[in-house]
Amino acid sequence: MSVLIKNGRVITAADDSIADIYIEGETIVAIGKNLSYKADKVIDATGKMVFPGGIDPHVHLSMPFMGTFSSDTYETGTRAALYGGTTTVIDFVLQTQGDSLKNALTDWQSRATGTAVGDYSFHMAVTDYNENVKAEIKQMVEEEGITSFKTFMAYKGALMVDDRQMFGLMSEVKKQGGMVTAHATNGDMIDLLVAKHRSEGKLSPLYHYLSQPEVTEAEASNRFAQMAGYTGCPAYIVHLTCEGALNAVREAGARNYQVFAETCIQYLILDASLYEQNFEGAKWVMSPPLRKKKDQAALWAGINQGLLQIVATDHCPFMWEQKLMGKDDFSKIPNGHPAIENRFELLFSEGVNKGKISLSKFVEVSATNAAKAFGMYPRKGTIAVGSDADVVIFDPNEQHTLSAATHHMNVDYSGYEGWQVTGKVKTVLLRGKVAIDDNNCLVDKGYGQFIKRNKVTGKL
Ligand code: URP
Ligand code: ZN
Ligand code: ZN
Repeated sequence: MSVLIKNGRVITAADDSIADIYIEGETIVAIGKNLSYKADKVIDATGKMVFPGGIDPHVHLSMPFMGTFSSDTYETGTRAALYGGTTTVIDFVLQTQGDSLKNALTDWQSRATGTAVGDYSFHMAVTDYNENVKAEIKQMVEEEGITSFKTFMAYKGALMVDDRQMFGLMSEVKKQGGMVTAHATNGDMIDLLVAKHRSEGKLSPLYHYLSQPEVTEAEASNRFAQMAGYTGCPAYIVHLTCEGALNAVREAGARNYQVFAETCIQYLILDASLYEQNFEGAKWVMSPPLRKKKDQAALWAGINQGLLQIVATDHCPFMWEQKLMGKDDFSKIPNGHPAIENRFELLFSEGVNKGKISLSKFVEVSATNAAKAFGMYPRKGTIAVGSDADVVIFDPNEQHTLSAATHHMNVDYSGYEGWQVTGKVKTVLLRGKVAIDDNNCLVDKGYGQFIKRNKVTGKL
């Protein structure tokens, strides 16, 4: 099967020009003006922007968490991602404490294999670092193509590792050519503040926010970055939300430590005032919580300064009924919010259209940098000869409204209900196949492939 995309404005992190793209099978074969290939299918992209397929390196599909499971499966989650222009996601395998990484991987593979619609890869979340786990790191990197290892510095008593484990893990991961990533908030402080608020009868979603003040994230981000500097291990802070944490990254960069950081679309465009309404605020109960407007401004600046290289989602949806588990106690509200389908369009609409970021920065932070940071480049994350034909054809002018009534995520509310968005994903190709066209999904479950990743360099 061959496809010729004609006359689109092809935008990568480096180039921006009107061109044709010729695809054979799963791969881009030629890019240029007025290509004369005869193709099985011709797509006219005149007047449209053509981007590399989005990469969201932070999602949780069918994730066992806080006594329930996130409501999107590999099928529904990766399909919704495709509708929103994201062709590859990276999910998190969670080690069960006391058990092996391999067993956890087998468990996650059984959920994803044959069900994913879009492409996916895995980070390995190490929740219990010990000598046995140390011996498995090499196997993960060399044999499984899993080159990033997630740690939680919070969720005390469930997923949290201590500094001794973090230090040991970083030393080993550096040796094996991987990267350590962190949910960088101070679990002990948060635990104490949660207990304090509960004992005072302060139980509404607002107290989720007040239990995780900025200092908890700034402190842990700095601790993590400093350990990365000392061990020399490439490091990555997930879902960074605030000025204080950004300053820790800035300082690490000034010392030439290899510390990458990601923010998520919600932290750029939503703020903590959403918690000032009764239980409705549970829709945005996530960790870290939404922050202040001054943090949004710092994050946009951090993107432009190159301190934040990636905009992800931390997509972790729960049905409203699941959120109600915490109706009498904020600490029981499953943490997470849905955005896998919305990231690409919201970032374009709020970022590019409102003049906050350039088009090339949009491509960098929505696709290219994730491919580079996580060892998938240039197979993924760009439009180039030899790359996978993961392509988004985008109408930059079409206006539409986000709503749970029309989204494809398996969740019965939207964190962005009624948002007016300018710019719409029209057609998506995944490895040369038209996956989305005019609001229809044309690929079946099982089309999504596991993407083995290369060792990471710690450089973009
Ligand atoms: O609230 C969140 N972020 N839920 C998902 C788990 C995590 O911490 O990333
Ligand atoms: Zn987290
Ligand atoms: Zn997460």
